Amino acid sequence: MSDSAHSTSYTTANSGIPVESDEHSLTVGHTGPILLQDHYLIEKMAQFNRERVPERVVHAKGGGAYGTFTVTNDVSQYTKADVFQPGRRTEMLARFSTVAGEQGSPDTWRDPRGFALKFYTAHGNYDLVGNNTPIFFVRDPIKFQDFIRSQKRRPDNGLRDNDMQWDFWTLSPESAHMVTWLMGDRGIPKTWRHMNGYGSHTYMWVNGGGQKFWIKYHFKTDQGIDYLTQADADRLAGEDPDLHRRDLYDAIANGDAPSWTLYVQVMPFEDAAGYRFNPFDLTKVWPHGDYPLIEVGRMTLDRNPDDFFVHIEQAAFEPSNLVPGVGPSPDKMLLGRLFSYPDTHRYRIGPNYTQLPPNRPHSPVNSYAKDGPMRYEPANTARPYAPNSYGGPAAATGRFGEIAGWEASGEMVREAYKLHREDDDWGQPGTMVRHVLDDEARERLVGNVSGHLRNGVSRPVLDRALQYWRNIDKEIGDRISRRVNGG
Ligand code: NDP
Ligand code: HEM
Repeated sequence: MSDSAHSTSYTTANSGIPVESDEHSLTVGHTGPILLQDHYLIEKMAQFNRERVPERVVHAKGGGAYGTFTVTNDVSQYTKADVFQPGRRTEMLARFSTVAGEQGSPDTWRDPRGFALKFYTAHGNYDLVGNNTPIFFVRDPIKFQDFIRSQKRRPDNGLRDNDMQWDFWTLSPESAHMVTWLMGDRGIPKTWRHMNGYGSHTYMWVNGGGQKFWIKYHFKTDQGIDYLTQADADRLAGEDPDLHRRDLYDAIANGDAPSWTLYVQVMPFEDAAGYRFNPFDLTKVWPHGDYPLIEVGRMTLDRNPDDFFVHIEQAAFEPSNLVPGVGPSPDKMLLGRLFSYPDTHRYRIGPNYTQLPPNRPHSPVNSYAKDGPMRYEPANTARPYAPNSYGGPAAATGRFGEIAGWEASGEMVREAYKLHREDDDWGQPGTMVRHVLDDEARERLVGNVSGHLRNGVSRPVLDRALQYWRNIDKEIGDRISRRVNGG
């Protein structure tokens, strides 16, 4: 909408009735009381009081844009999903975010970045709600709330607290890989355009013949990876807290549409049981040497929303939106997330959130849903129950082939799934420190960690943190220890 779109028309109330004044409320004489019958004044105040929906409990600060996903390679041998068929172009929405900060927090705080995608496919919305990291801090959804609370503000003083963060991390050694990532260069991307996105979890693909595969998604930035140093990020947090939101908006507005190339790693279904570590463990990557990247297509973001609140604040991404040809895996984190997101959307936006522009599928919706607050679409049928004999929709049983599932049985347990040879917590972060980072990147890692540890972390948490780093890599741990202790 342009700024002058309505300049020739007159102001109306929300009901379309012409408004008498933009500037003066209705009073009895110049000094008299304001009249309750000034419906327009009351409407303005009441509407204003209700302008905010609750911010997202995590990932509150973000930005996003619409675009297109175009398939560039034939992966139909692995999946029948319409969105990944040769030559297909699918409309999509992306939202990028920080995790712990609130709506107004600086974009350059050290944090993972959300990488949430919604594909408006021929068979309904497919959401891939990932991060700019291929891994995560915990591997069981029962720990997610504790993890987030350790990153957010304390209830007593309203402050964030490094002591609390390191207390949780050091008591949760499965966090080591993600913390190494976070404290490295990729913990503060230069812009959202300069970071990769990962599905992070293992997902399932099913092909037209019913064959199943385990897969991991990698969206590699075509702009090149780039990062900010801690010092630059700290400065920019003051100078331009909305740097990343602005950068994406301006790039698209200037015709410089950013793009990412999607690759997948594909593991044959049968490999999972005998793999050297649990392939469904969200704290681990699959080494490229074991499962190489296979190109799938390109995502290009080229359309800014015309209203930030409508399209970005009300966007509701949910890992439970899985379409024929894709499915979940036994990753407990993913299975927990399948419940959490639609639940929070019903609270944050309302039960009819799928009718709003960013969430509305571009394919027909024949659900039996009806009524509820802010219902906009009429019910799909006058006889809202199934089965019925009046032509109401009937399920697509068998029409889309094999469903994405696996066999499961056993006693009920509350245990980590650690049955594979290399199911340890320190191996992969150690590989990253020793083999992926170069000398300069290692030095920045040491600087970032010791700076963080020097800022309010008390003993014995500090001692545990130094041991945590020695477990990842003895030499890095010793260097951090010397730096923290002033050596
Ligand atoms: P590779 O040498 O094949 O892969 C290393 C990968 O590390 C690169 O491809 C790149 O991922 C990523 N990387 C490069 N610099 C950094 C950095 N500063 N911070 C974080 N990641 C970086 O080895 P492996 O596949 O055997 O993995 C070795 C280690 O690399 C892993 O233990 C893990 O820590 C890390 N890694 C592995 C990824 C994977 O999916 N296998 C993905 C990312 C990191 P990208 O190409 O995605 O940019
Ligand atoms: C947002 C829960 C793990 C990526 C959210 C929200 C909740 C949530 C409640 C707010 C959603 C909203 O209000 O719209 C959880 C739970 C997790 C978990 C319970 C673990 C059990 C993860 C992981 C990733 C991730 C592992 C990435 C791989 C995101 C992203 C958003 C988000 C990107 C923002 C979506 C957007 O842009 O609207 N999460 N989360 N989360 N989460 Fe998670």
